[in-house]
Amino acid sequence: MNTGESPPFGFEDTSFQTAGGVDGVRKLVDAFYDVMDTTGTAKTLRAMHAEDLTESREKLARFLCGWLGGPNRYREKYGSINIPQAHRHLHVSMAERDAWVSCMDQALDQQAYPENFSTYLKQQLRVPADRILEVSQHYHRSS
Ligand code: HEM
Repeated sequence: MNTGESPPFGFEDTSFQTAGGVDGVRKLVDAFYDVMDTTGTAKTLRAMHAEDLTESREKLARFLCGWLGGPNRYREKYGSINIPQAHRHLHVSMAERDAWVSCMDQALDQQAYPENFSTYLKQQLRVPADRILEVSQHYHRSS
């Protein structure tokens, strides 16, 4: 529970600032795709992406800036986005969801973030990841 000493993460742009602003978020995203690119268990997830990860890095970094309460850099360049809908064309099973979350957890562990902030982000990022899985299962049901 927050004692009033400092605002909770998620208040205004505290998360964006704690993540190190635009450069910090970009560093996190680069670490995330580097982990995905080099981890055997993320092979299927990696294969869902284009060979060249430049655009994925740019898009996720821009998206996360706004998602963390900072400037909406994704919208500035690409327009508005609905995350589950943007993944609707993909077949995301629990394995891919888990691989995504695991790559992000490892990338977060590589950052010099306060531990409670990393823990908070890991929890918060599960929400859109679970939603993507749910929507994908809905649209790609095999029966
Ligand atoms: C649940 C596991 C996830 C999987 C398997 C996944 C997979 C992918 C793939 C393969 C792409 C590239 C799509 C393409 O080239 O057509 C992509 C794009 C993207 N992903 Fe994810 N993703 C996941 C979770 C997330 C989460 C949790 C977020 C946000 C917090 C996110 C944000 C994005 C964004 C912003 C893009 C660019 C979308 C666009 O501009 O079209 N993804 N994702």
